Amino acid sequence: MQVLELAQRFEKFFGAQSRIYRAPGRVNLIGEHTDYNDGFVMPAAVAFSTYVAIAKRTERKLVIRSEQFPGSFEFDLDHLPPQRTRSWCDYVLGVATVLQQQGYSLAGASMLIHGEVPIGAGLSSSAAIEVASALALLSLTEIQLPLPQVAQLCRQAENNFVGARVGIMDQFVSCMGKAGHAILLDCRSLEPKFVPIPASLRLVVCNTMVKHDLATGTYNTRRAECEEGMRYFAKHDPAIRALRDVSLDLLDQHARDLPAPIWKRCCHVVRENQRTVDAACALADGDLGRMGELMRESHRSLRDLYEVSCRELDLMVEVAEGQPGFCGGRMTGGGFGGCTVNLVRQENAPEFAAQVAERYRRATGITPQIYTCSAEDGVQALT
Ligand code: GLA
Repeated sequence: MQVLELAQRFEKFFGAQSRIYRAPGRVNLIGEHTDYNDGFVMPAAVAFSTYVAIAKRTERKLVIRSEQFPGSFEFDLDHLPPQRTRSWCDYVLGVATVLQQQGYSLAGASMLIHGEVPIGAGLSSSAAIEVASALALLSLTEIQLPLPQVAQLCRQAENNFVGARVGIMDQFVSCMGKAGHAILLDCRSLEPKFVPIPASLRLVVCNTMVKHDLATGTYNTRRAECEEGMRYFAKHDPAIRALRDVSLDLLDQHARDLPAPIWKRCCHVVRENQRTVDAACALADGDLGRMGELMRESHRSLRDLYEVSCRELDLMVEVAEGQPGFCGGRMTGGGFGGCTVNLVRQENAPEFAAQVAERYRRATGITPQIYTCSAEDGVQALT
């Protein structure tokens, strides 16, 4: 993306000079569907980003345009819509609404958005637009907030305005990502540990091209199932506040008492938390054999216990097996479509990408997109 050109296009539309913010999408190496259970995740920010160019307006209006979608949206800052409008600009509106509700006074603004994170691919295009918009809006009134707080505000926008009950992972890593590192995040304390990814590895992200949408459907159902499990265990031990607090022993003791689907969901979450903590050690120690095994176990668990995979994701995982330089792979993100993430030795990454694409295409008739990524920095002011 040419930042200068975005600034020029902004000037052409709005007749003003802009500031530009960039926030990245992410891949999650392991720790899936654990964030909203107060558990552990290990994502990395990647080079796909959303750019927001912004300038102050004299009147209290928000005027929002995108370079990817048609139309121009105009809102009165003092009468923002109380709920989602079911358009892409809900992510921006949601952030503006939450910021105002929390007492941050915003200025009228023109915004031009350029998104490069593939949409519906499970790479957090929504967190990227939220985080870049939040920093852009705050910058106009010179408000500086700590980035973890920005992440929480953006999550609230997605929960309360857009209506997807997502956890904190995506917004946090979009804010706090660090080049060359994954973040082991404790989603209860929000304490990050930066885990170096060996420079000899690439994150090869394989897009099944099957789209997912978290605002509707099974994502919120899974959350409700976890809450049911949590309430059950809390009756046995009032110290249990989330599935994070359930031990493997306690889980095993009650295997027969819970309805089967609820037990399966709990089982995934409790074991996935342990796998994630173990994976951070394996990656930091350069034990790629162990790291790969944990990723494979995570995928099987998401497929069989949490039931958020799909045929295409399973196939994409299968066709990676046995390829030279492949350490391990799994579905990444919410599921029901989207991408897999694969740890692959750098020198093998181009051939890996070609082989996986060809095998997947032969099996499904769908041509996948394959992106070879490294871990990147989180949100930045560019101008
Ligand atoms: C989506 C949500 C995250 C997380 C993942 C599943 O990406 O935005 O908060 O719950 O799904 O791990």
